[in-house]
Amino acid sequence: MAILTATKLSRVYGEKTTVPTWALREASLTVNEGEFIGVMGPSGSGKTTLLNLLAAIDTPSSGTVQIEGVDISRLSDRELAIFRRRKLGFVFQDYNLLHTLSIRENIVLPLVLDGVSPAAIQSRLSEVAHQLGIQYILDKRVYQVSGGEQQRAAIARAIIHRPALILADEPTGNLDSKSSAGVMKALSDLSAKWGATILMVTHDAFAASFCERILFIRDGRIRSQIHRLGSRESFYEDILSSLRAQGGDGLDASQDKHQ
Ligand SMILES: Nc1ncnc2c1ncn2[C@@H]1O[C@H](COP(=O)(O)OP(=O)(O)O)[C@@H](O)[C@H]1O
Ligand SMILES: [Mg+2]
Repeated sequence: MAILTATKLSRVYGEKTTVPTWALREASLTVNEGEFIGVMGPSGSGKTTLLNLLAAIDTPSSGTVQIEGVDISRLSDRELAIFRRRKLGFVFQDYNLLHTLSIRENIVLPLVLDGVSPAAIQSRLSEVAHQLGIQYILDKRVYQVSGGEQQRAAIARAIIHRPALILADEPTGNLDSKSSAGVMKALSDLSAKWGATILMVTHDAFAASFCERILFIRDGRIRSQIHRLGSRESFYEDILSSLRAQGGDGLDASQDKHQ
């Protein structure tokens, strides 16, 4: 079943100026239930624009986004706010945890704000802490844990309300390669073991190699896609080959640190 269907999404900035920017041109994609899909492309290619349109943070110049069959452009502002809170989970490059709270308090915050009962919150907390392997840091403060642990806590917060779709923008962007591996393993386990549906934007081939399918975007257009058929290691090589074939501007020195 398709969780997300985007059809011919375009976004033009400065439409009424003499030099409009086509950040995205007629991008169409489908994400099926349980799929873990990556979007790669060089800086300025339209990745964040695409994610913002899918998350209803921004409005397309043309085209439609359907999530679980609902055309999000037809929702009122109020309906959209509720829809985003219930159906989507967001993971950001810089974690966005509140430093005055413990890890536990950060993770349960969305449910507390939604008025969920303490017993239900406790049961959801146990489940997501187990899924992300972070039981041992729940009582720590944000500054007492590593970047990788903070990101796994941020992922726990993003899934605690069981969203239909997780949207992640460069989730390993601030992490060293060891922490990146931990975060990517956690995301791919969420999809493979627990059926989560994830769309992740990244420019890092190592992070992308944990996905099942990669879309390549360039100059605002989705140009090609590749599927993972074998091991993660062989998919990593396939991704590097695709980036090289596209002219190599998605490649940077950071790709060399990974195997
Ligand atoms: N708010 C904005 N106003 C004008 N141009 C923008 C805005 N946001 C992004 N752009 C332009 O749209 C293009 C795509 O940007 P973006 O989606 O942020 O790329 P990426 O995330 O792949 O680096 C770039 O040329 C960028 O300069
Ligand atoms: Mg971006």
